[in-house]
Amino acid sequence: MRGRIPDSFIDELLARVDIVDVIERRVPLKKAGREWTACCPFHNERSPSFYVSPAKQFFHCFGCGAHGSALKFLMDYERLEFPDAVEELAQSVGLTVPREGGNDQAPREDKTDLYALLDAAARWFENELPKNAEAQAYCRKRGLDEDTIKRFRIGWAPAGFDGVIKALGSNDRRMQLLNEAGMVASNERGHRYDRFRERVMFPILDRRGRVIAFGGRVLSSDQGPKYLNSPETPLFHKGRELFALWQVKQANPSLARIVVVEGYMDVIALHQAGLPIAVATLGTATTPEHTEVLFRAAPDVVFCFDGDRAGRAAAWKALEAALPRIRDGRQAYFLFLPDGEDPDTLIRKEGKDGFEKRLKAATPLSEYFFNELAHDVDTSSLDGRARLAERARPLIAKLPDGAFRDLMAQELEKRTGARAVLEADAGARRPVQRPIVVQRSLVRSAIALLLAQPGIADQVERPYGFLRLEKPGVELLAELIDLARSRPGINPAMLVEHFAERPEYTSLQKLMAAMVVGEPEAQRAEFFGALQRMEQQVITQRREWLTAKSREGTLDSAEKAELRELLAARVPPAAPAD
Ligand code: GTP
Ligand code: MN
Repeated sequence: MRGRIPDSFIDELLARVDIVDVIERRVPLKKAGREWTACCPFHNERSPSFYVSPAKQFFHCFGCGAHGSALKFLMDYERLEFPDAVEELAQSVGLTVPREGGNDQAPREDKTDLYALLDAAARWFENELPKNAEAQAYCRKRGLDEDTIKRFRIGWAPAGFDGVIKALGSNDRRMQLLNEAGMVASNERGHRYDRFRERVMFPILDRRGRVIAFGGRVLSSDQGPKYLNSPETPLFHKGRELFALWQVKQANPSLARIVVVEGYMDVIALHQAGLPIAVATLGTATTPEHTEVLFRAAPDVVFCFDGDRAGRAAAWKALEAALPRIRDGRQAYFLFLPDGEDPDTLIRKEGKDGFEKRLKAATPLSEYFFNELAHDVDTSSLDGRARLAERARPLIAKLPDGAFRDLMAQELEKRTGARAVLEADAGARRPVQRPIVVQRSLVRSAIALLLAQPGIADQVERPYGFLRLEKPGVELLAELIDLARSRPGINPAMLVEHFAERPEYTSLQKLMAAMVVGEPEAQRAEFFGALQRMEQQVITQRREWLTAKSREGTLDSAEKAELRELLAARVPPAAPAD
């Protein structure tokens, strides 16, 4: 186990890096007043609504709502896990990530070793391929050329139970790594043996081109499961990875369209035929995570499936996974292949041009959506149209706000014609135009304003009068003020990162995002105004409570004195309760 990364290091790291640098290296930024802007890398847009604030060390997109610190940016942009994003950021400024509580003396080495081992395994399999005549004959039979074999690092896992173990498991530590990497399996008696035997090996690479897993195919169909994949490991999560995404990115600096097919061999055949735009899920259904990765790779995503029942079911799953990700500028298409064909067989028959023709003629999501939903309803009857509307509504509701959602709602109206139902429905569904600064309670405003410039915490007097206010969030506000006071110079992103493992994290990020653009002086004044109003509310609350108690005649003498004093002070009416 690697140890925990201490919070203090995250602080130090975020203090050391400049978010503008981190983002600029990946997305060209333009100066705009105090901030920097760009077209948002997380959604497709023509005019920039992505802002980076050097003062707050925070980014925010007013278009899609993406926001966060430099760390969050790396996680989202490079699709890294938190510890990996920390590693990467630390490396960029020459820091070493310390660990606490781990039982490994050289924790930094941990994942690096795992990657190195998997890479060595891939190399070993690659070297085995030319040594085995049967495997070579198979590759020839499948039409794989030398260049493709090299590009995809296709290899051969020979027969026997300990080829990999002998080659790579020379000591306990290495055996442990082989096990962690999913390269060995063990029987009931704990005896370890190679997981992959007599299989053509397809390494699965991550977004940075590192080997993280394998898929292995048998040579003939009577030898157990046709494909065997690595199990889930610390490096490999099927629901997130796409086979050949690395090769696609290598072949296309910018990509207008990406194609998702079902099988390894389909991907490879398309690449070899001159269409290096294909990826595949790893024998699993398309997940929402996959669709996000896909849309980040290209604005148009074509899901290509067999025309059989299984293919149709898989396509509908992909549609459901895609719906929440279809922001304006992104489009999904569906391509169903003739019975008995897959992309591999088809491109060999029809060539690149034939397959491209099919891609161009793929069914837009909207059309597939309505056809599929209506396939067993009679839309000439009122009942049928009502049923169609009923099925479509919750799905359309999953689409993000935007022109596409409006169009889908209109299309539903056109197809079902049930105006009254639809008008009510459209009313319920139409989003209230989201203002940039959302309506917030006083407490939430105060938190947002504090997050905008934590330095102002120094000027808050103790004890905090607002703590007596019975409103959610006051304790959090006090905690934030304490934290900011105890760390002079803390920047907003650092402050929020302190809550990374707390349930409040998401809402704090949103609150910070709401304030990313604004005049510091005005925000400062607003912050103290909010505190003042909260304290007034405390007094009003207390006065009302005492007054009610006095009506019941149950005030003791101290309370009577307090009430007299409060009434005499004639506190102006508090701001309306929120
Ligand atoms: P070929 O027969 O080699 O052309 O395979 P294919 O690439 O056409 O794959 P197929 O359409 O049979 O299956 C699609 C994908 O599903 C494969 O690439 C695998 O990822 C997965 N798959 C297929 N069969 C199995 C299996 O037996 N076990 C597992 N785990 N996955 C499988
Ligand atoms: Mn096939």
